[in-house]
Amino acid sequence: MFRLAVFVSGRGSNLKAILDAISIKYLNVEISAVFADKRECGAVDLAANHNIPVYFVSKIFKENYILLEQASDVLINLKIDLVVLAGFLKKIPDNLVDHFTNKIINIHPALLPSFGGEGMYGMNVHRSVFNASCKVSGASVHFVDKVYDNGKIIAQSCVDITDVKSPEEIAARVLEVEHKLLPFVIKKISENKITIVDNRVFILN
Ligand code: GAR
Repeated sequence: MFRLAVFVSGRGSNLKAILDAISIKYLNVEISAVFADKRECGAVDLAANHNIPVYFVSKIFKENYILLEQASDVLINLKIDLVVLAGFLKKIPDNLVDHFTNKIINIHPALLPSFGGEGMYGMNVHRSVFNASCKVSGASVHFVDKVYDNGKIIAQSCVDITDVKSPEEIAARVLEVEHKLLPFVIKKISENKITIVDNRVFILN
């Protein structure tokens, strides 16, 4: 079975979307572990409710936390095929990217390469999109490289935001497409249907 590790920091709605896709057999994968950078969050509760082992990670030494720099050893031991960043807000260390080149994906709540980079997460993104008076936004799933939100884009979904009155409305519209886009990309990767040719990512039918 294709083995996922899902990295989380928050509410866990994308983790739930993956779990739902597994339960309806859209995805033929297993979530072997969840990695979280905080103990108290919806995503950790969700993992616990599904009996998924949770590993706590930190950038600095903390009792009962694994150093993020050492997470690659755990991932290798767990024979993880794909690391999914589903609302994980810490930067992935270079050594992890080296060990898992093109095996780490991230979902971002905007149409990259716009509205990405350090500090661009969650509502910060939607506020910037709102304040720029954008007429479309969307979600991007991309490979993770050593620069924030910079890796090759695998798939994107757009939403019309011409009529929105608040950043929260943008967030709600984007989240809806995130929950379809992330399972879709995981499915294609798990079926070996993603290729990179001349620096562009192609998804096979
Ligand atoms: C999602 O909107 C995800 O795209 C975003 O955090 C949210 C997590 O929600 N990620 C980023 O902003 C990363 N730069 P969730 O915990 O409900 O899945």
